[in-house]
Amino acid sequence: MPDAIETIEVHTAPAYEVAIGPGLLAQCGQYLRSMIGPLHMAVVTDSIVAPLYLDAVAASLQSAGFSVSTHVFAAGEPHKNFETLSEILEFLADAHLTRTDCVAALGGGVTGDMAGFAAGCYLRGIRCVQLPTTLLAAVDSSVGGKTAIDLRAGKNLAGVFLQPTAVLCDTDCLASLPADVFADGAAEAIKTGVLADELLFSLFEDGTLAAAPGQIIARCVRYKAGVVERDEKEQGERRLLNLGHTVGHAIEACSAFTIPHGHAVAAGLAIIARAAERLGWAEGPIASRIAACLSKNGLPTGADFSAQALTAAALSDKKRTGDRITLVIPRQIGLCELKRVPVAELMPIIAAGLEV
Ligand code: GLY
Repeated sequence: MPDAIETIEVHTAPAYEVAIGPGLLAQCGQYLRSMIGPLHMAVVTDSIVAPLYLDAVAASLQSAGFSVSTHVFAAGEPHKNFETLSEILEFLADAHLTRTDCVAALGGGVTGDMAGFAAGCYLRGIRCVQLPTTLLAAVDSSVGGKTAIDLRAGKNLAGVFLQPTAVLCDTDCLASLPADVFADGAAEAIKTGVLADELLFSLFEDGTLAAAPGQIIARCVRYKAGVVERDEKEQGERRLLNLGHTVGHAIEACSAFTIPHGHAVAAGLAIIARAAERLGWAEGPIASRIAACLSKNGLPTGADFSAQALTAAALSDKKRTGDRITLVIPRQIGLCELKRVPVAELMPIIAAGLEV
């Protein structure tokens, strides 16, 4: 690969490579040919990404010897449901994909989740490559193998673990992202900073990140790869990656998914940081630093829903086991811990975090 492309190996079984750098979509055929050989590639994308990148991706694949079928679904979290999944599965069957073929998820988090889920259950599982086009998909959702759709009862309640066969992360896509879509991904990267990387966090505090998006993505992917290698199926350490997500998912559900994932996670992160500080779980004042960093990056630090509504939504989430829920508590910037609390304690914790 050229020097400008950074590669990170994720040592799951089987292992796969995440390539990060400019121009990767236009060269995806060449890269994927060297990784998986030419085969029938079913490219799944949404109605926003298709006009931007689908032709270039299909042309690159075809010129590298792949046969290509494409499917475009209506963009947006409200479409991350059974109907869209079923359309994708019918498309794969109509295109006669076989067990040796592959799905390419071209787009953001919703596309990665749904195309990945379809690949994971079509013919009981075929391969999937992830071609993230948003910062959120690049720093988080394209790596690690979680796939899902939303159910009426909550977000990501049905899905499978399917590690991608490869991830090609074209940093040129980031330049044309609308500011709020970029901010959505910044939320997940700031989350990574709070979890384990104070230097990464400080890049967002200083506002210097725009100069080096490849570096930001690589730091996030390297950290996530390590966590996924140690705990692929989220039995322990991987739960840390849900920092901000218990309240974040509840905010998304309470807003009928009109608040995007990253914005909801940002608010969830600010709320749990305030709660951690007020309840004496943090080791010092962190909440105002986290809130200032989120605000600087165009992200919210609170939500207009009651503690009662958020608690009810959070308890539908899959993070609950029996009568306890596991929360991720920030102790310092760069250090968090898992805390199992009785579900009865969740509402006062959220209430403490909502109070500004
Ligand atoms: N986005 C959290 C995880 O992949 O575990």
